[in-house]
Amino acid sequence: MLRLALIGAGRMGRSHLAALAGSPTVTVTAIVDPIGAADLEVPVYPDIATLCKAGGFDAALVAAPTRFHVTVVRELAAAGIPTLCEKPCGLVPDDARAIRDAVAAGGIAFRVGYWRRHVPELQALATRIAAGELGQIQLVVCYHWDVEPPPAAFRDPRSSGGILVDVAVHELDMMAWLTGSAVTSMTYEPGGVSWHPPVEGDPENAAALVRLASGCLGLVTMGRRWPDGDHQRVEVVGTDGVVTLPFGVGPAGDARIRAALRAQAEDFARLVAGGSSVSATIDDALAALTATAH
Ligand SMILES: NC(=O)c1ccc[n+]([C@@H]2O[C@H](COP(=O)([O-])OP(=O)(O)OC[C@H]3O[C@@H](n4cnc5c(N)ncnc54)[C@H](O)[C@@H]3O)[C@@H](O)[C@H]2O)c1
Repeated sequence: MLRLALIGAGRMGRSHLAALAGSPTVTVTAIVDPIGAADLEVPVYPDIATLCKAGGFDAALVAAPTRFHVTVVRELAAAGIPTLCEKPCGLVPDDARAIRDAVAAGGIAFRVGYWRRHVPELQALATRIAAGELGQIQLVVCYHWDVEPPPAAFRDPRSSGGILVDVAVHELDMMAWLTGSAVTSMTYEPGGVSWHPPVEGDPENAAALVRLASGCLGLVTMGRRWPDGDHQRVEVVGTDGVVTLPFGVGPAGDARIRAALRAQAEDFARLVAGGSSVSATIDDALAALTATAH
C-alpha cells in the first residue's frame, strides 16, 4: 500500500480523495493545506515541513493551486519524496523546467496528473492510431467545456493560468499522446460572448488552432459553461476512419474520470515500487506548457 500525503484539499484534492477510496494499493494518510480540512478524517498539517516531521507517508500527490507547483515540488524533491503533481506543473514553461531540475536534483520518482492517459477508451484509441487503423491522422478536434465556471479566485490567470493554460493543456497533451506527434504551433482566439463580470485574462470561452509535427491539424474548443453538463469529447479524423469519443459527458463521464484518477495513482504506486508507468512525465508537461506559450 502506497501511503500518500495529499498537498492541497480543495476541489481537485477532494476529487482525488473520493477516487482513491477503496483502492487496494494507494491510500491517503495525511493532508497539507494551510486553511485546514477539519471535515476530513486524516491528519491535516499546515505545511510540508510539519508533515515531514510527523511522517507516516511514502509519497505526495500535489493538488495545490498551480501558482504554487514550483515551490511545493521543490520542497518535496529536496526532501526526497516521490511526487505525483497535478497538471499543468506551473504557469509557464520556465516553471516546468524549474520542476524538472528540482526532480532531477532530488532523484525522485515524478509524474504529472494528465488523467486522460488512464481512460481505457482513450488508451484503446491511442493503440488503434498507433497501429494505423485510422490511416494518417488529418485532424483532432477536442471539446473541453465545463457546466459552470470555477470560482473567480481560481480563474485569476496569476493563479491558474486562465483558460488557455488551465484547460487547453489537457487537450494539447492528449493530442500529442493520442497521435504520437508533438505540437509544433498553436494560435489562440478568445471568445467574445461573456455573461459574467469579465475575469481579466480568463475569457468565458476560447478556441485554439494547433499544428502537429506529423502535419495533422488540431482544434481545441473550450469554455466555462456548457448548459447540458460537463462536456469533454474528442474526434479523430483519419484517412481511413473517424472516431468520436465523448469520454467526459454525463454520469458515465464522471465515473470514468474517478476511475482514471484512481488508475493514475495506482500507476504511480507501481512506479514508486520500481515498476513502469504510463503517466505523463515532466517533459510531457513542459511540452504542453510550451505549446500554450507559442
Ligand atoms: N486534472 C484535472 O482534471 C484538474 C481539475 C481541476 C484542477 N486541477 C488542478 O489541481 C490544482 C488545484 O486546483 P483546485 O481546483 O483544487 O484548486 P482549489 O483552489 O479548489 O484548491 C486548492 C487547495 O490548495 C490549498 N493550498 C493553497 N496553498 C497551498 C500550499 N502551499 N500547500 C498545500 N495546499 C495549499 C488551498 O487552501 C485549497 O484548499 C491546480 O493545479 C489545477 O490545475 C486539475
